[in-house]
Amino acid sequence: MEMELQALPQPLLLAFFFLLALKFLLKSRRSDSNLSQVLSPEPPLPPGPWRLPLVGHLHHLVGKPTHCLLGDLAAVHGPVMLLKVGQVDVVVVSSRAAAEAVIKTHDVNCSNRPDVAVARIVAYDCTDIAFSSYGPFWRQMKKVCIVEMLSARRVKSFAAVRERNILDLMTNMPTGSPVNISEKLMTLSSNIITESSVGKKYDGFLPVVREVTKTITGFSIVDSFPSWKFLDVLTGTTSRFWRIRRRLDKIMNEIIKLHQAEKKSNPAEEDLMDVLLRIKEQGDLEIPITFDNIKACILDMFLGGTDTTATTLEWAMSELMRNPEVMKKAQIEVRETLKGKARVEDGDVEKLSYLKMVIKETLRLHTPIPLLPRAAKQSCEVMGFKIPEGSRVVINAWAMGRDPAYWEDPESFWPERFAGSETDYKGTYLEYVPFGSGRRICPGYQFAMATMELALAQMLLCFDWELPGGMRPEELNMEEKFGATASRKLALWLIATPRFPPPA
Ligand code: HEM
Repeated sequence: MEMELQALPQPLLLAFFFLLALKFLLKSRRSDSNLSQVLSPEPPLPPGPWRLPLVGHLHHLVGKPTHCLLGDLAAVHGPVMLLKVGQVDVVVVSSRAAAEAVIKTHDVNCSNRPDVAVARIVAYDCTDIAFSSYGPFWRQMKKVCIVEMLSARRVKSFAAVRERNILDLMTNMPTGSPVNISEKLMTLSSNIITESSVGKKYDGFLPVVREVTKTITGFSIVDSFPSWKFLDVLTGTTSRFWRIRRRLDKIMNEIIKLHQAEKKSNPAEEDLMDVLLRIKEQGDLEIPITFDNIKACILDMFLGGTDTTATTLEWAMSELMRNPEVMKKAQIEVRETLKGKARVEDGDVEKLSYLKMVIKETLRLHTPIPLLPRAAKQSCEVMGFKIPEGSRVVINAWAMGRDPAYWEDPESFWPERFAGSETDYKGTYLEYVPFGSGRRICPGYQFAMATMELALAQMLLCFDWELPGGMRPEELNMEEKFGATASRKLALWLIATPRFPPPA
């Protein structure tokens, strides 16, 4: 062997050693990677139901509201489940431990929202709060909206707006014949948001905002097949979104112009639009804002606050009608606390502990945003499963709110379960997250609670309520509508009998 090697010409000898070294290197690297795979193997993808070519699991998502279907599937496939919705990976999380991994352990990685066409167009290229990417711009805009409209201090400052609108509802409530309560509550909720964010009602504004809400909370096939551009041409999806955006933009521009023309000298009288315009003009924000950013944030107040608040109130009234003994207890509390007063004020609400539990229980059973939408920036591991990079992560808040592992007799409406409980609205206990949790938590929960508590207390104080046509409580239809907000499928109609002369 030695001879043979010496006999080889010098360059060939060098090449031989080079190849030998290379072979050794590659071998050792291969065995290194085999070793590291054995030591820390890549986690498997989460399980899921059977799927079809092309459409993936889409066929599993028909027939019932999505959160209910996902809850049923999770009962079979587990608390971390992977669905292929068209071309998109969707990871569904349905337990406290799995939600904790997403919201707490991988908080920064999972703090983005899914990329959807409607938000890119209608929410001004995602420059609002709800759809903007996690980062300095999102942080700045969320802080501004909290400080200027949604903080406890600001919410208190809107007491007169709430009281005036609730009083208006009470004095104009038709009595003795069936009234569409769902519609009345939607009007109440949007009037309060309108006055606090843009000051007064503008012709044509609310209908456009309602259309945007429907578009944003609806399902768009285009988002499930992002590489099939022809679907957009066939369905006309983005051109429809652009038509809505142009209508919205026109009316937003008018509102801005009117605010600029009627500048308020007293900051206490400013609405959110006034504040945002002033801040823009002063130019001392870390990231300068544009008119489009202002429009996007104003839109968010409507998208985030209107349907959610109205839906909670409509479900609270539905559950009270289904459970007359709970209604009686809540009415006794309100009427005894108010001691003959006909008008509830912010200060009275603090004493209504049972009414607060009624709202808490409503938010558990009828979580208005049942699926918390997140996106994983990079791949990560949740409960031993790999969450693929770029996948959508959906936390099923509704399913956790009804899971017998966390709640006794979960399907019953039983407000007393919260007596002495530490469960809060800050997402501390992940089996109860009606306002979400973590960095993306709802900034409007104090604003919403103030409206809901006052409105419900006033409704129970002023009127006795009856189902129309002699309907028995157990006959009231409690089905949910399909959509991102879990509202009633059928509007709630009730008959109001005044208990007091309408409050003056
Ligand atoms: C009962 C009433 C309400 C409910 C149940 C509710 C629920 C939620 C939920 C579940 C989220 C997502 C949280 C997450 O991903 O962790 C959210 C986000 C948001 N909500 Fe609310 N909300 C309500 C009222 C309001 C109100 C009154 C406003 C404003 C006026 C508002 C503005 C927002 C905004 C701007 C976001 C986006 C936050 C972000 O992405 O950082 N919400 N809300």
